[in-house]
Amino acid sequence: MARKYMIAGNWKMNNTAAEGVALIKDMKAQCDGKCCCCENAPEVVVCPPFTTLSAVIAEANGTPLKVGAQNIHWEEKGAYTGEISGAMLNEVGVTHVIIGHSERRQYFGETDETVNKRVKAALKHGLVCIVCIGETLAERESDQTKAVIERQVRGALADLTAEDMKNIVLAYEPVWAIGTGKVATDEQAQEVHAFVRGLLKSMFSCPCVAENTRILYGGSMKPGNAAGLLAQPDIDGGLIGGAALKAADFLAIVKSVK
Ligand code: 13P
Repeated sequence: MARKYMIAGNWKMNNTAAEGVALIKDMKAQCDGKCCCCENAPEVVVCPPFTTLSAVIAEANGTPLKVGAQNIHWEEKGAYTGEISGAMLNEVGVTHVIIGHSERRQYFGETDETVNKRVKAALKHGLVCIVCIGETLAERESDQTKAVIERQVRGALADLTAEDMKNIVLAYEPVWAIGTGKVATDEQAQEVHAFVRGLLKSMFSCPCVAENTRILYGGSMKPGNAAGLLAQPDIDGGLIGGAALKAADFLAIVKSVK
């Protein structure tokens, strides 16, 4: 079974509800149904901030566009100021959620353990998890990339079954490539993706997990470099930051899937 490509936009802390709706309208106008009907049309997801979700979900209604959140808390409810629960995300109608983005790890104390708790909560609530992993520049330069990636993958996926893995998408985002314009070369990205796939093979007895799990690349993916990255055998899509904020750029990346 061929893995279906996924192109996901992480809007981060950008776009009010009005701005988000305008961006979706722009995408609909520019796409005109053509982006989603090629044989290998990818699954396309946008992940706006929480307060923008309902407006974007309403605007995307009737299109193949899917909408995800950028975080989820592991508890059902309670005294967790600033957090959001699975039930709240279910109510608003998202189907996907980004978990463990490096910005959350760097600025908000996210750890492999909390990533794992959030993943389990998201699965319980029927959401597809886009789980982010990636090394810093210092870790790459000190030859720690594979050790860091292995720790993050094992940590995020601890206790998960092959069945759970049907709702997991991994996103390899080297921290040094995020928002810097410094993209990993096709070869650098492919090497880590192949490593992650090998890791999945060793972690799960069913070979279906390594074969079917999508691994996205993220970090300065743009219309100009997307085709080369997406052509790599173990790269199954992209998690896009800056270029997801412009309809033309995001759709150009969607169309780079061959
Ligand atoms: P940029 O595409 O802006 O580098 O961001 C990537 C990212 O962090 C997506 O989650």
